[in-house]
Amino acid sequence: MSNEARIAETLAAIDAASDADAVEAIRIETLGKQGWISAALKSLGAMPPEERAKAAPAIQAMRQQVADAIAAKKGDLDEAALEASLASETLDLSLPAPETPKGSVHPVSQVMDELAEIFADMGFAVAAGPEIEDDWHNFTALNMPESHPARAMHDTFYFPDTAPEGGRMLLRTHTSPVQVRTMMSQGAPVRIIAPGRVYRSDSDATHTPMFHQIEGLVIDRGIHLGHLKWTLETFLKAFFERQDIVLRLRPSYFPFTEPSVEVDVGFALENGKRVLGGSGDEPGHGWMELLGSGMVNRRVIEMTGLDPDEWQGFAFGVGVDRLAMLKYGMDDLRAFFDGDVRWLRHYGFSPFDQPTLSAGVGARA
Ligand code: PHE
Repeated sequence: MSNEARIAETLAAIDAASDADAVEAIRIETLGKQGWISAALKSLGAMPPEERAKAAPAIQAMRQQVADAIAAKKGDLDEAALEASLASETLDLSLPAPETPKGSVHPVSQVMDELAEIFADMGFAVAAGPEIEDDWHNFTALNMPESHPARAMHDTFYFPDTAPEGGRMLLRTHTSPVQVRTMMSQGAPVRIIAPGRVYRSDSDATHTPMFHQIEGLVIDRGIHLGHLKWTLETFLKAFFERQDIVLRLRPSYFPFTEPSVEVDVGFALENGKRVLGGSGDEPGHGWMELLGSGMVNRRVIEMTGLDPDEWQGFAFGVGVDRLAMLKYGMDDLRAFFDGDVRWLRHYGFSPFDQPTLSAGVGARA
């Protein structure tokens, strides 16, 4: 068969090939190591130069023609394969993307954010103090005498170290030392909340050795009990998102406030569950103790170097974990700190859902 006839046959075979394998087979037959066009090219080497110069262009042209035809066919087949898959496979970009696993915000962090939002709206800044305190800031400056029961070993975690002033180091038992630190560092007036961890040697279903409190402190001229009551009422209504929250102020005692006021909130029993709202004196209702507060004792104000005749104020301390339990309906405090992911998945909050007053501080994801 002449070379022209073989080329015509090869080009026809390439044209007729239905897949990449068939094209590859033709390439091996022609341009492969043992292919006949490769053999023809090789045979040029054995020719005398004159003959080679005559024969070479035709063989090179053949090789080029077949190589071009194979490349073109491969391109056509690839394109056809792409078109076929585009026609058969559909990708709907309007479908929601599959959920990727993400962490959740712990209810304690959520509630602290909610409180910061509510108090920021009333002009309170957030203050912080150390969790490892000295007994002067935790007790002495708060007018808690040496004999006070909270100072006892069985209530407080002490360190063997000695404090700079010569006293003892301990894990703070409440957030109240932040009152002292803030008054001393910034003077008056003061309007702060101080959320954080506190520690007591206590452990049962409703007490964990570590828990969370939020302290509030206002120091200014002419501050009185009415300001305290309004602030607490406004805060609790915003936090529980109920206008019918009723407070009962009960005389109490804390060494660092005078007078001291225990604050109860009214609740109703609904299917055996306590639901906040309404007066606790109504039939079927009751009062629940919620927080401690009072007018800052003038001895404390004096201790921080301020003049108690010029500056007065109020303070309060609330359990953050308890607020979270009441608002979001958990009943075992210990589960808060077990780190069980099933609990966190159930009670956690979306990290993208920031509490705001306008959208509802406690909007659930
Ligand atoms: N520190 C007190 C406690 O832990 C609470 C409190 C704070 C009371 C501020 C009055 C004023 O029980």
